[in-house]
Amino acid sequence: MTLSAVLPDRTGPYDSLAERFRTVRAQTVGLCAPLQVEDYVVSTMADVSPTKWHLAHTSWFFETFVLADHMPDYASPNPRYAFLFNSYYVQAGERHCRAQRGLVTRPTVSEVFAYRQHVDDAVLRLCERIADDAEHPAWPVIELGIHHEQQHQELLLTDIKHVFWMNPLRPVYSNEPGDVHGERALTSSNWREFDSGVRPMGHAGGGFAFDNEGPRHRVFLEAFRIAARLVTNGEYLAFIEDGGYRRPELWLSNGWATVRENNWTAPFYWERSEKTWSEFTLAGDGSLDPSLPVCHVSYFEADAYARWAGHRLPTEAEWETAASDAPLTGTFVDSRQFHPQADNGTGQWYGDAWQWTQSAYLAYPGFKASAGAIGEYNGKWMADQWVLRGASCATPRSHARLTYRNFFPSDARWQFSGIRLASAR
Ligand SMILES: [Fe+2]
Repeated sequence: MTLSAVLPDRTGPYDSLAERFRTVRAQTVGLCAPLQVEDYVVSTMADVSPTKWHLAHTSWFFETFVLADHMPDYASPNPRYAFLFNSYYVQAGERHCRAQRGLVTRPTVSEVFAYRQHVDDAVLRLCERIADDAEHPAWPVIELGIHHEQQHQELLLTDIKHVFWMNPLRPVYSNEPGDVHGERALTSSNWREFDSGVRPMGHAGGGFAFDNEGPRHRVFLEAFRIAARLVTNGEYLAFIEDGGYRRPELWLSNGWATVRENNWTAPFYWERSEKTWSEFTLAGDGSLDPSLPVCHVSYFEADAYARWAGHRLPTEAEWETAASDAPLTGTFVDSRQFHPQADNGTGQWYGDAWQWTQSAYLAYPGFKASAGAIGEYNGKWMADQWVLRGASCATPRSHARLTYRNFFPSDARWQFSGIRLASAR
């Protein structure tokens, strides 16, 4: 199996990879610390996987793509786990129905933790064995597994948020204040302006990237301007109060149909009682803060809001051009705030909330998926989805980068997805 298309370049010397593996695996377990054992088992909609499943699936990934290929003496504690914990890799074998993941009570949570430990021990033994072979083909797959693990850390949080939201007791995941870096105050909306021209786009090498971030190529952009912060709850509230959810002229046809079908009247996790709005967060129910970025909006809502505001969503090429000199700062999961924070003048390019673009999730010119099951990672999803850029308050900081392409369908809104505006100049 060749992995060159998945892993265009290395992050650094592989002698530190075992330590990064150990750290990232421990961080996943750390995110589970506030949970009770009952919380691990439930799935509250088809998009939501149980915490237990995330813990096991990320272990299956290492078992299937690293240990099975590179550790001949490895034995799974239960070969039937592969059926339960393969997500969507058709070439890796048959798999359990996604929508029924929350109906599986066995293996127990403690058995899943034992499975993780079993896989961890084996991967670390492999790292020791190949420590002197910098060209060993297992290294890039271990690195891919680490980044895959970080993706599931974010999903674990957004999924448990939905699980808690569905519970009438509205449990609190964390109401610690977290780390607040620097002054956070709402800045007035301002814009950055860019001339037309040919711009480079895509991963340039020099670090890890998923295959869908390359090849690097050029695009021509007309002159544009792009907002220097995210749209806030207060601004979005003005759209609602102006009848935004009742005016079909503001919506794409499929968006309007979705609004009607689901009776959408506000972003996900917003609730109205009498004249006040509340927002459910991982800290529980609370009153809506107008200065925070709006999040948990679908592509349809982001698009309708932009149209109402007299603007549009940026393309991903515009986003990448504008963010290319921005510092990689923002509210990441490392801050343990678990909710987007108000702008502090850095532009909110990373962290806080993912930003919908109006770019369809498609292959860059020259893209070629890897051979074998691992090639299913990104390429086969390039239909009916939109690219989101940046990162969110649930993303590990070390997982964010300029060229990262997240993607979700038009109606998805259980992720921390927000809005940045753009327009022609
Ligand atoms: Fe996965």
